[in-house]
Amino acid sequence: MNYKKTILITGGAGFIGNHVVRLFVKKYPEYRVINLDKLTYAGNLANLKDVEDEPNYVFVKADICDFEKILEIFKLYAVTDVIHLAAESHVDRSIKDPFTFAQTNVMGTLSLLQAAKEMWQDDYSSHRFYHVSTDEVYGALDFDDTLFTETTSYDPHSPYSASKAASDHFVRAFHDTYGLNVIISNCSNNYGPYQFPEKLIPLFINNIRHRKPLPVYGKGENVRDWLYVIDHARAIDVVFHKGKAGDTYNIGGFNEWKNIDLIKVMIKTVDKLLGNPEGHSLDLITFVTDRAGHDLRYAIDSRKLKNELGWEPSLQFEEGIEKTVKWYLENQDWLDNVTSGEYEKYYEKMYGK
Ligand code: NAD
Ligand code: DAU
Repeated sequence: MNYKKTILITGGAGFIGNHVVRLFVKKYPEYRVINLDKLTYAGNLANLKDVEDEPNYVFVKADICDFEKILEIFKLYAVTDVIHLAAESHVDRSIKDPFTFAQTNVMGTLSLLQAAKEMWQDDYSSHRFYHVSTDEVYGALDFDDTLFTETTSYDPHSPYSASKAASDHFVRAFHDTYGLNVIISNCSNNYGPYQFPEKLIPLFINNIRHRKPLPVYGKGENVRDWLYVIDHARAIDVVFHKGKAGDTYNIGGFNEWKNIDLIKVMIKTVDKLLGNPEGHSLDLITFVTDRAGHDLRYAIDSRKLKNELGWEPSLQFEEGIEKTVKWYLENQDWLDNVTSGEYEKYYEKMYGK
């Protein structure tokens, strides 16, 4: 088959990546999707069972930092476009191990950019390099500050956000210096199915299910702006196809929640779905030492994306959180597999370390 585009999606076995891969594979049979993933602890091919046999889907296990391998993949598949999601993504891990974050998020992005620059020299304008980034690059807001816009100055605080900010700068540098057709989006906190249960929402749902303590950092007063992951995937589709080369788009839900309030909603929803009396799991809330450098508040102004490209979130939070809790409760095998490390052993056996 002669595909219209061959899109290299990196990090497609991770949380957001699997939703992006699924959307592109199913919505665009005229595109071939190459899912390139190293399958770190956060990557899980079980997330993509329903697309693995599609004729326009290919999985390649590789490390984005391995420049020679990336070049080989570009040549082998004649890659026409990149949507880059692969990253180390958990702030707490970045505090313990910043080197891995600099390596993957900065050097890995640079290796993809360099490969694109070498392989697409014929005509940069017909090949898009889409870099998926985060609102954390803008730093932290106070409670009464206005929202992050695309022109807010970068002010990252954690090793994770510093590494994402550095990667964003490299992406822009490849546009300004070499004329690569790049695009960046900076999104707020995602929630939904297939998120690794080290992040707040799936961790707490799983802990409530097992009657384990819910470790709330500090006083639980930090604020995050939550977006349903499939709405993020829809936004990526729109930005990839309609965004302006060299431009940045903020993606967010206009849906700010103080952690402690969100946790109470989760407890209420899990208790209801498990048939527990209201308030049953509130005693699991345990205030613990705050995260180092914990950003007080993130909140995204995504009006540019709405006004210029017509994207809006499709799901109200109440509906999204109920769907999400239901998904984790109905997919306990997935959660147990991931938390027991079984899937890691399985894929190591299949693909090597
Ligand atoms: P994730 O940790 O769930 O998945 C990351 C994926 O990247 C995994 O499949 C992993 O195996 C793969 N990967 C890691 N290192 C790699 C390497 N060296 N080579 C190839 N693959 C590698 O992350 P996520 O939450 O799905 O986030 C995806 C992207 O979106 C990241 O760039 C992140 O910064 C960004 N983002 C995430 C959120 C969020 O709320 N989760 C919000 C905004 C932006
Ligand atoms: O804003 C976008 C970012 O959102 C993404 O770039 C990151 O990849 C993603 O991990 C997420 O970062 P956060 O640090 O905001 O997400 P996390 O789920 O780790 O934490 C959400 C909030 O909950 C944060 O204020 C810290 C708090 N928290 C988290 C955990 C894991 C707790 O209070 N207890 C916990 O055990």
